[in-house]
Amino acid sequence: MQSRALPASAARVAPRRASAVAAIDAAALGSVHVPEAISQIADGTLALAPTAFGALGAVGLVGAVLVATDPQRRRSEQMTSTGGNEKAAVANYFNGVGFERWNKIYGTTDDVNSVQLDIRKGHAQTVDKVLSWLPQDLSGVTVCDAGCGTGSLALPLALHGADVAGFDISQAMADEAARRYDAAVAAGAREAAVRPRFAASDLQAVSGRFHTVACIDVLIHYPQERVNEMIAHLAGLAEERVILSFAPSTPYYEVLKRIGELFPKGAKATRAYLHTEQAVEAAFNAAGWRVVRRDLTATRFYFSRLFEAVRM
Ligand SMILES: C[S@@+](CC[C@H](N)C(=O)[O-])C[C@H]1O[C@@H](n2cnc3c(N)ncnc32)[C@H](O)[C@@H]1O
Repeated sequence: MQSRALPASAARVAPRRASAVAAIDAAALGSVHVPEAISQIADGTLALAPTAFGALGAVGLVGAVLVATDPQRRRSEQMTSTGGNEKAAVANYFNGVGFERWNKIYGTTDDVNSVQLDIRKGHAQTVDKVLSWLPQDLSGVTVCDAGCGTGSLALPLALHGADVAGFDISQAMADEAARRYDAAVAAGAREAAVRPRFAASDLQAVSGRFHTVACIDVLIHYPQERVNEMIAHLAGLAEERVILSFAPSTPYYEVLKRIGELFPKGAKATRAYLHTEQAVEAAFNAAGWRVVRRDLTATRFYFSRLFEAVRM
């Protein structure tokens, strides 16, 4: 199922991880699960079915969607439904239905659909790339994993010697990352030199200094107007480098997102924000950092742009 082999120790603890940034769900959309599939968009998964669209009349539908969706109206509706506190809405989601969904996607069990499986594989590729960008021997290297989720990156980093602190706005996610570390050790993984610490925290409340700061597939929860302060904060935590991934904004993915916004679900109160490469790079530049390496992971349903930035 996995397209790239992880380092041995990493593979034991995090063999199937994924997250989303953009997804095209041909199977689900072709069935009765249309709203469910599309609702993944606001989780960071964009869903669309080219084949289903053919049946529905793709051009007409896309046109109708663009007319029918009113981002401003929907935005204010969502703000009202979440009491105006978007971060609280994200935390609630990832402590509840979002935790159930993403814990499965970032896991190894078979109870995932074809889209989720594809996302799992795509996310695993992103994690592998991050690991390949870092030295093999991470002994003593301090790493902050901001928005660590279930520990897909933090665990292999710790098992390769890094001194890892993972933070997530969701207590359930932070707890699951700690649980997975203990499970990996119980299953035979050699204990990390420094036990990774996981805590529930808004990444912008994190303080301290770390050699490396990683923030993978989290920016999708940040509107453009908050990207600069968020990236400046991450850069302020880092001594050497920041590795950050985000959902790339293109006209195509923006249309998919608008389609997804037609299908709100009660428990689904998060919104997805795509970002242009230029805007994210400008945010690094504004913080006095420059992007020195970049990559794109694109499977059928998962798209994630990866940047490494260092001080200017
Ligand atoms: C799509 S998941 C990615 C998880 C992890 N980085 C990975 O790649 O496996 C997004 C994560 O970001 C977390 N998150 C969202 N906004 C956050 C914030 N402001 N501070 C900390 N964590 C946040 C969510 O709770 C969720 O666990």
